[in-house]
Amino acid sequence: KMNAFVSQLMAKMTVDEKIGQLNLVTGGEATTGTAVSTGVEKKLASGQIGGIFSLTTPGRVRKAQEIAVTKSRLHIPIIFGQDVIHGYKTSFPIPLALACSWDLDLIQRTARMAAVEASADGINWTFSPMVDISRDARWGRIAESSGEDTYLGSQIARVMVKGYQGDDLKKANTIMACVKHFALYGAAEAGRDYNTTDMSLDRMYNEYFPPYKAAIDAGAGSVMASFNDINGVPATANKWLLNDVLRKQWGFNGFVVSDYTGVSEMIDHGLGDLQKVSELALKAGTEMDMVSEGYLTTLKKSMQQGKVTIAEINNACRLILEAKYKLGLFEDPYRYCSEERAKKEILTPENLKFSREVATQSFVLLKNQGNVLPLKKSGTVAVIGPLADSRANMPGTWAVNADLAKTPSLLEGLKNVVGNDVKFVHAFGSNLTSDATLQKNATVFGREIPRDNRPENEVIEEAVNTAKKADVVLAALGESSEMSGESSSRTDIEIPAVQKRLLAALLKTGKPVVLVLFTGRPLAIKWESENVPAILNVWFGGSEAANAIADVLFGNVNPSGKLSVTFPQNVGQVPLYYSHKNTGRPLAPNGWFSKFRSGYLDVSNDPLYPFGYGLSYTTFSYSDVKLSAASFKPGQSITASVTITNTGKFEGKEVVQLYTRDLVGSSTRPVKELKGFQKISLKPGESKEVTFIITENELKFYNQQLKYVAEPGEFKLFIGPNSRDVKESKFMLLK
Ligand code: IFM
Repeated sequence: KMNAFVSQLMAKMTVDEKIGQLNLVTGGEATTGTAVSTGVEKKLASGQIGGIFSLTTPGRVRKAQEIAVTKSRLHIPIIFGQDVIHGYKTSFPIPLALACSWDLDLIQRTARMAAVEASADGINWTFSPMVDISRDARWGRIAESSGEDTYLGSQIARVMVKGYQGDDLKKANTIMACVKHFALYGAAEAGRDYNTTDMSLDRMYNEYFPPYKAAIDAGAGSVMASFNDINGVPATANKWLLNDVLRKQWGFNGFVVSDYTGVSEMIDHGLGDLQKVSELALKAGTEMDMVSEGYLTTLKKSMQQGKVTIAEINNACRLILEAKYKLGLFEDPYRYCSEERAKKEILTPENLKFSREVATQSFVLLKNQGNVLPLKKSGTVAVIGPLADSRANMPGTWAVNADLAKTPSLLEGLKNVVGNDVKFVHAFGSNLTSDATLQKNATVFGREIPRDNRPENEVIEEAVNTAKKADVVLAALGESSEMSGESSSRTDIEIPAVQKRLLAALLKTGKPVVLVLFTGRPLAIKWESENVPAILNVWFGGSEAANAIADVLFGNVNPSGKLSVTFPQNVGQVPLYYSHKNTGRPLAPNGWFSKFRSGYLDVSNDPLYPFGYGLSYTTFSYSDVKLSAASFKPGQSITASVTITNTGKFEGKEVVQLYTRDLVGSSTRPVKELKGFQKISLKPGESKEVTFIITENELKFYNQQLKYVAEPGEFKLFIGPNSRDVKESKFMLLK
């Protein structure tokens, strides 16, 4: 039916109208490039636009849609996109934090709720999920990713797509997903945004591709090409990537959109002028051109000159019309424009309640010496730091529609949750950074952290005097939300020095200090981890972050988040990730330096906090691993079980993690790979047996011929609370 409908429509379309469908313009509510679309109304009326992004609310969307369907010759509706990344107006924790919940059902529900809110506000297409494997803490966009791990990232990619698209894209409360950034954007050299990637096929297929593929397998309707150059060809014009891998190998049948001016940026990549790069992009399999207008202004000429064919234009146009058909826009172009839904379904108390629950699940307790936490609901608490009373800081990066008016600051959240039982005293303490320019560079969409222009000593002294009046000090420090995210790479991944000076002064008071750490990336916090008794990493938790932080600090909720990414000791170790290869000269376990072995003179190879790590207010013990058999054949399976006991005083959740290692392979294999996890809840004294099933599938990898195989031989198996502190066993995969 869809085929016939689209064919009939295309039979009526001129070449110009077909090219018009390939043009995506910005409505300009949040722009992230130098070019901004112009003459949008005129172009809509003349069929020169296929989609608009960054234009919201039923009124505005309806107005634009009306022009397209009443004034353009063939009345073809427009698709409306938006960066709905971690929630819509009700925002959720940044994706890096959300992944720390290791709760797939919860994550899927965040995407579902985001789709409901966005579709109630005119949107039917989201530029999410971002599934780039990210192992470089310097890269600002690590905040938007699910972290370093291929398996966890793939599971999250799948449920995000399901959450957005639901079971039927035609329903008015579902939106089309756009998997991004295809591909390898997270591997940008030196962690510098938009930078080149150069990668082996082994690494691509085994480590970086699986999350994109998982999203495609889950039915994602569209894909965004990444900005970067991949082994010499920018993704936007990379035919091997977009055609051979995406379409032929993975069977993708939706459309590919470029990133923001991704087509015209290939002029700067050095591939030719606008006409040439547009031709390259179309031929490679980029169907929609975001903001460059290279397609709109050059494709017809290229066709007339025989450089592109009408078949290539037809193919791209067809895929975009099919997407509109799948969304039901031809049946009702105003399906997503309901003022009533916008009033009723956005930022509801239930949504905010859910956002608060989700945020509590994303925080990671990194240290809790002497059980400083949870705090007593009495006495005086000093809340100090540049991030202590800032609403702008709570939602995190790429929360373009988050409503700051409904987002309490940490101080406000603490007061909301704990009421008058605790007296809160507050001081600003220090600027975010001593460098006003750096702070300004890290500001976007006007979300600024204020500055105190008094001398640093004076501001710190005031904070110390405030701390002295309290029983405990909460130091709200770290990064502002825009110190990570797009175009926010850093070479220094420590807490800015001025904040560290404040922290040192607070510690000197002798009061117990809790570092409430805001960050969008793994920070190098070695000094803090050695000197501060308690550290709660709260990332950027979304609309309800403040209330959720208060819930956790005061023990209403026991923290259970586990790191989705390794925390290094220092920036020189980056990229540091648990599933590395062994090398031919590995260090002895727990060794630091050994001459002529793979290591550093000045730091061990160990992370500060390993992948999968996170504490609880309670403690858990793990039994040894029980295997149902010592070997199995392809087609069979074995089980691995452990018993976990809550040995502490609080009810708590634990993420039980399964890793394997292929000891001998036809190519080198990582020292550990996550293959499963289960999140369980245990009351004090309670025990549960957790069982994992291992089949040949868990052991497969892409070999040098890119065949997905499990090779018979010996495997190690590890189960534990994180990637480091594991119980070990061994089994054989037989021939
Ligand atoms: O979706 C984003 C992308 O992640 C980065 N460049 C801009 C796009 C649209 O806003």
